[in-house]
Amino acid sequence: MSFDVAAIRKQFPILKREIDGKPLIYLDNAATTQKPQCVIDALVDYYSTCNSNVHRGAHRLADEATRRFEDARDIVKNFINAPKREEVIWTTGTTEAINIVANGLASLLLPGDEVIATGMDHHANLVTWQQACKASGAILRTVPVTDMGELDQAAYDDMLNERTKFVAFPHVSNALGTVNPIKDMTAKAKQFGALVLVDGAQGAAHGHVDVQDIGCDFYAFSGHKIYGPMGVGVLWGKESVLAEWPVWRTGGEMISTVTLQDATWNVLPYRFEAGTPNVGDAIAMAEAIRWFSALDQEAVAAHEKALLDHATELAEQFEGLTIIGTAKEKIGVLSFVMDQGHPADIGFLLDRQGIAVRTGDHCAQPLMARFNVPGTARASFAIYNTLEEVDALFVALKKVQTMLA
Ligand code: ALA
Repeated sequence: MSFDVAAIRKQFPILKREIDGKPLIYLDNAATTQKPQCVIDALVDYYSTCNSNVHRGAHRLADEATRRFEDARDIVKNFINAPKREEVIWTTGTTEAINIVANGLASLLLPGDEVIATGMDHHANLVTWQQACKASGAILRTVPVTDMGELDQAAYDDMLNERTKFVAFPHVSNALGTVNPIKDMTAKAKQFGALVLVDGAQGAAHGHVDVQDIGCDFYAFSGHKIYGPMGVGVLWGKESVLAEWPVWRTGGEMISTVTLQDATWNVLPYRFEAGTPNVGDAIAMAEAIRWFSALDQEAVAAHEKALLDHATELAEQFEGLTIIGTAKEKIGVLSFVMDQGHPADIGFLLDRQGIAVRTGDHCAQPLMARFNVPGTARASFAIYNTLEEVDALFVALKKVQTMLA
């Protein structure tokens, strides 16, 4: 199998769009990826042929919807090499998955316990632990970030101790692209018996995820960052932990028996899936995973590395531009500031040239403060981007520089 970017691009209808008469160059993939036709078709097909509520109906459509929904769970299980399908919980996305874990953690933490997060976390994986610590009297410690944008492993080693009950870190930094040594960091936390959550929002679409190999207790990710729909995601958690945890939300499906005064809870995964789930999007997310997994993963990684290497080389030659985040291990994210122009102005002027990037703090304000910048402009690459698009970004940035001079 080889990698044919032109053939890949043909599968994404949105890439035919123009912005003000210029071809769209979409470099905001860390915010959300575009969707191939097969994912769009899966969603349309679900609503056109078998839309129904799951696990409840006494009719054919309900049976079909339930089967497709549960098959989708199996596809996720295999994608992350989860040991059991019961450990795969559908959520609305990574943020909700992390909040489910925070809810369970709240019942475990005692005053004086320690929780470790990091200085490069997305707010969803930082504010959540701040709140859990405030509610319980636990102490929040954060792993500092080095000048290159890596987690300071020596500081992390020093932080871990017998009081450490929980550790959370991102697989990949959304703002810098740094790939963290998650297996190693998990193993270190496990020496002290801490529970470990990996925020996989930016990691799942870049390289093989094997939760058993990582050794963590929880891995959270979203459909929309792996070529699937928005509004759906997954919390994978070890059955041995989740089965003991208090329920998250109450409602239909998560109960076993109900009397007027009391209720008992359903088994995993349904215990954490109160209410009607997002069936169509779960099915379409599974289709995205099926589509993505069928690609030659080595070729995909090589293509994304070529895009990043090329962009980094051009950025290094670009006078007046500073890259924020130069970690040794990175996925295709180029975050930068320029001597002239606020990141918001850079984003606006790139958009006028048909180029979509994200600007701002990337939901990582402490990280921006660490680098002493108000925010950055961020170009983030996906499998359908081309080297020519990277060239076009830097031609456009030259124009931006002239306009802002
Ligand atoms: N977390 C997403 C990003 O980094 C939205 O842009």
